[in-house]
Amino acid sequence: MNGFNNVYKNKTVLVTGHTGFKGSWLSIWLHELGAKVIGYSLDPYTDRDNFVLSKVGEKIVDIRGDIRDKAKLEEVFAKYNPELVFHLAAQPLVRLSYENPVETYETNVMGTINVLEAIRKTKATKAGIMVTTDKCYDNKEQLWGYRESDPMGGYDPYSSSKGAAEIAINSWRLSFMNPKDYKKHGKSIASVRAGNVIGGGDWAKDRIIPDCIKALEANKPIEIRSPKSVRPWEHVLEPLSGYLMLGEKMYNNPVDYAEAWNFGPELNSIIPVWDVSQSVLNYYGRGELKDVSDPNAVHEAKLLALDISKARFKLGWIPTLNIEETIELTVDWYKDYNDIDVYDLCKKQIMDFSVKGGYS
Ligand SMILES: NC(=O)c1ccc[n+]([C@@H]2O[C@H](COP(=O)([O-])OP(=O)(O)OC[C@H]3O[C@@H](n4cnc5c(N)ncnc54)[C@H](O)[C@@H]3O)[C@@H](O)[C@H]2O)c1
Repeated sequence: MNGFNNVYKNKTVLVTGHTGFKGSWLSIWLHELGAKVIGYSLDPYTDRDNFVLSKVGEKIVDIRGDIRDKAKLEEVFAKYNPELVFHLAAQPLVRLSYENPVETYETNVMGTINVLEAIRKTKATKAGIMVTTDKCYDNKEQLWGYRESDPMGGYDPYSSSKGAAEIAINSWRLSFMNPKDYKKHGKSIASVRAGNVIGGGDWAKDRIIPDCIKALEANKPIEIRSPKSVRPWEHVLEPLSGYLMLGEKMYNNPVDYAEAWNFGPELNSIIPVWDVSQSVLNYYGRGELKDVSDPNAVHEAKLLALDISKARFKLGWIPTLNIEETIELTVDWYKDYNDIDVYDLCKKQIMDFSVKGGYS
């Protein structure tokens, strides 16, 4: 597969979080682009995660390790000398962060710092794309999308841990890998913030698409906890196309792109949870929704949008799919995963997306 001016062909690329939802798709895409992919993560969560079903672990170097284990992480960097690093490993769930706040911080903040340190110490590493989230912003429940220059914040431990990770990334960039001193250190560090990512092979707890599919497969009504919450929905291949495009630019021009970037959807994909769930039913062909809103539920932001003007104008990146195409492509995976080879299914979705988005 071609794309991104073939910058990934024959490059050693390290992906943390490769056993997870987004990381498994990124590993497949990078493998298809000709990269030598080194994955570093904990074990997958379930037997039907995209990582397990696609068997992508058999095509890449699949290393199981904890990003809190600084020594092991640095050993892996020293052994494989990755030229580019995509850091996705995290504890990524808001509700779980209320149960395990300290672990969430250890992984999301100290784990990220360990990855930054490993990048800093590895001469071969030229670019680090550090994945945080739209929830890193100080959420004012405003109608307008957040811009890259807005202040960091976060109410719950997950969001604030990612806000803290962003502050650490910026500090490491300014202190140790400053673009103005590029000639001395030879590195480019960026952070990337996506919206609510959906797509095949995600079975995480308390995420709307896995909740819908689990209920549909069990012939139960889909219980909707926050029907009115509005989120910026996007297919997993959208932010990944942004990360890959940014990685290409950083590799070829390390000084101009070492910054923070939003990769969210267009405005008309910023819709309530209820509407997304209804659309899932339409594409699945059956099922019913049940409103189980709980006034005593833990705090979660109600309104969240991202401003993507910077990616549009400075990178030339725009979303490829509208909200209906996004949900259809997602549901297609869950309708097909039992019947066809999952690696081929992902590859076909990536190829179709690449053609439509102009990435091939
Ligand atoms: N899914 C979304 O909607 C979304 C939106 C914005 C940002 N993000 C961010 O994207 C990244 C990937 O998210 P995802 O949805 O694929 O999550 P996921 O839970 O499916 O995957 C997380 C990955 O991180 C690994 N991991 C967790 N703790 C680790 C540790 N201590 N050491 C090593 N590996 C560890 C897991 O093994 C897994 O491979 C995360 O950084 C997340 O915060 C996700």
